[in-house]
Formats: sequence, C-alpha cells, structure tokens
Amino acid sequence: MRVLGISGSLRRESHNTRLLRAASALLPEDAELTILDPEILRAIPAYDDDIQASGVAPYAVTALREAIAQADAVLFATPEYNHSIPGVLKNALDWVSRPLVSSPLRGRDVAVVGASTGMFGAVWAQAELRKVLSAIGARVVDRELPVMLAADAFSADGDVLADSDQHEQLAEHVAALVEAASFSGALQAAA
Ligand SMILES: Cc1cc2nc3c(=O)[nH]c(=O)nc-3n(C[C@H](O)[C@H](O)[C@H](O)COP(=O)(O)O)c2cc1C
Repeated sequence: MRVLGISGSLRRESHNTRLLRAASALLPEDAELTILDPEILRAIPAYDDDIQASGVAPYAVTALREAIAQADAVLFATPEYNHSIPGVLKNALDWVSRPLVSSPLRGRDVAVVGASTGMFGAVWAQAELRKVLSAIGARVVDRELPVMLAADAFSADGDVLADSDQHEQLAEHVAALVEAASFSGALQAAA
C-alpha cells in the first residue's frame, strides 16, 4: 500500500513534517509512506479559474495530482494558522479539486493529523481540513490527533512522539487509514 504524506508546512524544521515521519514508522510492513516534496506545494501558483478552464495546468499542480492519484491513501499533517489551515495548503487543494468530477481526491481515503506550538494541537485546522477534504469528495477518516506544544512533543533522538499515549494514538490513526484504504481496494477489486 502506498500512502502519500502531505505536510501543510513548508518550513525546513516543520513539526508537522516530523509528525509524518513519526507516522511512517508506524505503518504495517506492506505499507510505505512517501512525503510529498515541499517544492511541489511551494511552486503551485495562486488558484486562477481562467488557467484551470484553459485545460493547461501549472506543472506543480499536475505533479500534485499525479502524486495523489498514485497513492492508495493520503495522510495530511497540518499546522494551524489563525485557527485555520495554511493558505498554501488550501490553495493546493483548490487546484486539485477542479474539475471536481476528476479530482484525484474524490473517493480517496484520507486522514488528518496536526501539530502546533500552542496548547490546542491544531484542532481547528484539523477540523477545517477534514471539512475541505469532505467537500472535495475524499473519504475522510473521522479522527483527530492534536499534537500540542510541538516543540517539545518529539523525542530528542528521533522522529518519535515522546508521550506514549500520543504515540499509541498516532499508531491507531494510521491503522484506521490503512484499514479504510484496504477496504476500498478490496471493494474495487471485487467490482
Ligand atoms: C501565520 C501563523 C499563524 C499561526 N496561528 C496559530 C493558531 O491559530 N493556533 C496555533 O495553535 N498556532 C498558530 N501558529 C503557530 C504554529 O502552530 C507553529 O508555527 C507551528 O510550529 C507551525 O507548524 P510547523 O512546525 O509544521 O511549521 C501560527 C503560526 C503562524 C506562522
């Protein structure tokens, strides 16, 4: 199983990208998580419906669409910016949502986690992101994983959540995504 990890942060030392690496280590043996190259999100221009309607998508949009289409599931890790998701992530999702009928996120199994340096672990951003993904037609795992005080949430010696309960919750979160995607795959194979 191929899981694509998308971090909503472009920051080199992003806690959310680190959270994706922590999730990667918790996948079953037959699953692999690849983190989307942040240069793809960085290169996506501001959404323009005229460019979209022209049928010639910017190369970075095509790269993102292909990365999502090739994945069995997508795990998003989002920071919280002003109680919502970062504009760079929303902009990218707006691009891949059109045309809606052929969006690679339609029917795709997705899950959302989030880390913030504050006390609430990006809970509002995670809720917003689940809402946006549902609007696009993704099959969203109905769970949240708020990682608060993110600067101190990881073990010093690696990309592992220091709190054992949180580590367990991340494992359960990832397992729920893999189970959902396995079920979808089995349904498709039977069709
Ligand atoms: C523009 C901006 C707005 C932010 N707004 C919030 C917020 O509403 N709630 C919150 O908990 N943290 C907020 N933060 C702090 C982020 O949680 C923190 O920068 C976090 O580390 C970003 O994630 P990253 O480490 O993956 O880059 C904000 C940060 C920025 C730059």
